[in-house]
Formats: sequence, structure tokens, C-alpha cells
Amino acid sequence: MLQLKKITKTYISGDEKVEALKGITLNFRESEFVSILGQSGCGKTTLLNIIGGLDRYTTGDLIINGKSTKKFKDRDWDAYRNYKVGFVFQSYNLIGHQTILSNVELALTIGGISKRERKQRAIKALEEVGLKEQIHKKPNQLSGGQMQRVAIARALVNNPDIILADEPTRST
Ligand SMILES: Nc1ncnc2c1ncn2[C@@H]1O[C@H](COP(=O)(O)OP(=O)(O)OP(=O)(O)O)[C@@H](O)[C@H]1O
Ligand SMILES: [Mg+2]
Repeated sequence: MLQLKKITKTYISGDEKVEALKGITLNFRESEFVSILGQSGCGKTTLLNIIGGLDRYTTGDLIINGKSTKKFKDRDWDAYRNYKVGFVFQSYNLIGHQTILSNVELALTIGGISKRERKQRAIKALEEVGLKEQIHKKPNQLSGGQMQRVAIARALVNNPDIILADEPTRST
């Protein structure tokens, strides 16, 4: 369902160039579980950001369900990100002043569902990661592992085709 063809990514800051990805070719099938390992700075987050549509590749092509993304507009990337991908970030990116229930509800980007259903789906996702009793707490009232699970619930709530997790098992 996803194909990377000779993907490169070059970051340019000032007159310094960093070649973070130097031609990655990879295929992902449906229902496949894939881990990417490598030392710090080798390009793992860069690769996930590109696969998740959060950042753009420099050259090559990312093929989604058989379709090239070379001509994707911002609008196409937005739709891809919102409907197809769930992301668990390296730093969970939870909103501190909102309850964890709201954090998960806010991630529900699927249109045309009622407020009531949004809440039900968010509660279900939190239940699935074992946080049913914590839904009214704020992120800073949780342990590291619990925060991580909120981030996972948030990635699952849209029922995406692709779930990307940056270092989901790192101990915090
Ligand atoms: N926005 C940026 N501008 C310039 N260089 C960057 C940028 N983001 C990352 N880099 C560089 O690209 C390379 C890959 O970074 P990346 O964050 O993908 O590594 P990583 O494998 O996720 O590392 P870690 O395991 O420490 O999270 C590094 O050399 C990093 O310094
Ligand atoms: Mg990283």
C-alpha cells in the first residue's frame, strides 16, 4: 500500500547541507508491522515524517495505494494525513491544559459525526489502551507510560490505515 522509491531528503540550513536520507527504496504491505532501527541522527524521524506526509521528500517518489505523490498539493497531503495516518510523536505533543479525553477527541478529524459520537469514540480508544479511569485527568497528572498510551489512543481514534510511531517503546 506504500512504496518508497529512491527517496532522498536534504536539509539546508544556511550554507550547510545535511543529507538525512540518501535514496530509500522500500515497500509496505497491508497488515505489516515494520520497525526501523538505527543510531541517533541516522534519519528515522525524517523518514517517518515523510511517510506520514508531515514533511516533503527532496527527490524520489512516495506511492500511496498505487498513486504517485509527486504532484500532490498541500490539500492532498492534508487529506492523506487526516484520513489515512495516525501519528505517535517522539515527544507526545499532548495539549497540557486539556483533559486526555479532549486531547483524543480533538484528534478526530473525520467529518460528519456528532459531538456525542466523537466523545464515545474517544472514550473507546482510551479504554483500549487501559486508561478508562483517567479520562478526566490532564497530561501532567499521568505517568510517562500513561502519556504514551494517550498518544497511542489519539493515533487510533480515526481508525487510520497507517499508524506511525516514533520510538513508541523507548522508556521514559
Ligand atoms: N530541520 C532540520 N534541519 C536540518 N537538519 C536536520 C533537521 N532535522 C533533522 N536534521 C538532521 O538530519 C539527520 C537525521 O535526523 P533525524 O531526526 O531523522 O534522526 P533520528 O534517526 O530520528 O535520530 P534520533 O534517534 O536521535 O531521534 C540528523 O543529522 C539531524 O541533525
Ligand atoms: Mg528521531
